[in-house]
Amino acid sequence: MFKLSDRIEKLPPYLFAEIDRLKQEVKQKGIEIIDLGIGDPDIPTPKQIIEAAQKALENPANHQYPSYEGSFEFREAVALWYKDRFGVDLDPGSECLALIGSKEGIAHLPFAFVDKGDYTLVPDPGYPVYSTATMFAGGVVHKMPLLKENGFVPDLDVIDKSILNKTKIMFINYPNNPTSAIATKDFYNRVVELALKYGFLVASDNAYSEIYYDNYKPMSFLEIDGAKEVAIELHSFSKTFNMTGWRIGFAVGNKEGIYGLGKIKTNVDSGVFTALQQAGIYALNNYKVLNEPIRKIFQERKDQMSLALKKANFDFEEPLATFYFWVKVPDGYNSKDFAKKLLEEKGIVVTPGVGFGEYGEGYFRISITNPNIQKAVDAIKSL
Ligand code: MLT
Repeated sequence: MFKLSDRIEKLPPYLFAEIDRLKQEVKQKGIEIIDLGIGDPDIPTPKQIIEAAQKALENPANHQYPSYEGSFEFREAVALWYKDRFGVDLDPGSECLALIGSKEGIAHLPFAFVDKGDYTLVPDPGYPVYSTATMFAGGVVHKMPLLKENGFVPDLDVIDKSILNKTKIMFINYPNNPTSAIATKDFYNRVVELALKYGFLVASDNAYSEIYYDNYKPMSFLEIDGAKEVAIELHSFSKTFNMTGWRIGFAVGNKEGIYGLGKIKTNVDSGVFTALQQAGIYALNNYKVLNEPIRKIFQERKDQMSLALKKANFDFEEPLATFYFWVKVPDGYNSKDFAKKLLEEKGIVVTPGVGFGEYGEGYFRISITNPNIQKAVDAIKSL
């Protein structure tokens, strides 16, 4: 009876919702599932954060509407964390904004800056929300291919001037989902130059900054000279503190960017539950103690996965950050067929590369948010 809007009709199913649906089908057949699909940590949220939330829940003052942009204390904790972790100065009042998870911020951002026919620059493969959010706002997506030969970093020189002139937002995401690539300072400097020249906003999705390995430690885009003139950065508690279900994140950086996103949000949501913000403050104030044991677990899994994949002769680059392994699909398959067969016959969930965009074809993504690593690789190998 009800006709869906054209914008919804045009949309493919959300990648992870579709995988979830297939997973349920296979589960119902009695097949045991090992889920290496979505980057959703299986490890519980640290108990100190849960206790901080429990305490905050008991306070009736926290049961009322929260402040739209986040309490000043929350934004102050964000600013202090940025200073300590990245050496970046932020004004809590005008340069920090609480989000209901970074996905929410990404999804709303184009509404603030993109008019009909404006362009956004979006990495391909990339987090699907950059594109759908652009389409919802009536904008046009220009894909920036992430190719192995360029270290999965976009080639800025090939973007046409006519596109750059119409660009309102450029999305970048390092450490990268899905390829796990990292960006160089040189690349970031060039992004700042380009954004200043063409007057677009850079949205740096830094959700994976705290999931790093070996001797590598990711930086913030805002560490780059001039970055605050052109960029906001989005962060999430999800990956850093195993808090995917809690839905809390934040955006920081350029005042106008934060103002625009905040203005959209005041009209569509009522802010982050105050008790959650207080748990978030606890997490940020104690991030070193809380994050280290989490990173240790992922470091062990990363090493184990690298070894298992190498032994099984898979083609991949060892990640320095993120939960993800970006692995070449074996000969004779495309990424969707491979992932489907793996799920149906072996109960292993991986994400087909093409789900992140056409340039993801030929790859599949493994997420190490599951401890059954050797068993999973043996099953993948035996397909
Ligand atoms: C992913 O697996 O790509 C992400 O976890 C999805 C998300 O953060 O929404």
